Amino acid sequence: MEIIKVRDYEELSQKASSYILSKVKQIESPVLGLATGSTPEGLYSQLVDEYKKGNISYKNVTTFNLDEYTNIDSTDPNSYHFFMNKHLLGHIDIPKTQINLPNGSVQDLEAECLEYDEKITRAGKIDLQILGIGVNGHIGFNEPGTPFTSRTHIVTLDESTREANSRFFSSIDEVPTHAITMGIGTIMESKEILLLVSGEQKADTLNRLLNGEVSEDFPASILHNHSKVTVIADAAACSKL
Ligand code: GLP
Repeated sequence: MEIIKVRDYEELSQKASSYILSKVKQIESPVLGLATGSTPEGLYSQLVDEYKKGNISYKNVTTFNLDEYTNIDSTDPNSYHFFMNKHLLGHIDIPKTQINLPNGSVQDLEAECLEYDEKITRAGKIDLQILGIGVNGHIGFNEPGTPFTSRTHIVTLDESTREANSRFFSSIDEVPTHAITMGIGTIMESKEILLLVSGEQKADTLNRLLNGEVSEDFPASILHNHSKVTVIADAAACSKL
């Protein structure tokens, strides 16, 4: 695992953006894995800016998002579909047919999980997966205790995760209790992973990631077993190293 330490959130967003753009330019039909949460917002805004300046086209890019809440329509402002359109996908030239997010509003969620996982395999695997990390070490919505071999599946969200994400909703009661997430096994099949960690509230998390054991109690620890992971972390997140 390689760690790039940067000054602040702005530098983190810039570094992550240059990293991704160089991949997009290198690969003929790049497949990107995308994440939600506050951490990648600055990165997405940089990726949009570069497009608006005419420095990049995303016409050949295919995307797969990590996760989506269940029982929430894709047009709901709290859905990850909405988030992605607002922050990135609605502002760039990526064809709609190349955008993939799990659909949490279908009747048969199990079938949706299976189909989503197969779609990723059919696309030839993810070239670069962007990840954030939850305070409890979750990646995607894979909460502590999730088997490292898991494929795309339905999860019950931890109370701590619902609480952390309640800032996007008007009250915690509105935060969904379940979600679909790419599994840890699915994430680990990505050819390369870029993990972004920002802020003091993630300082203990980053310390545990870098210095703790590989254990299902801390999902992100599995990244030690991947051959190409880059972590970009700002000074606040590095404050307990
Ligand atoms: C959510 C998402 C994760 C994300 C995490 C951290 O639970 N499902 O993919 O990494 O939150 O979010 P933030 O970047 O806002 O701290």
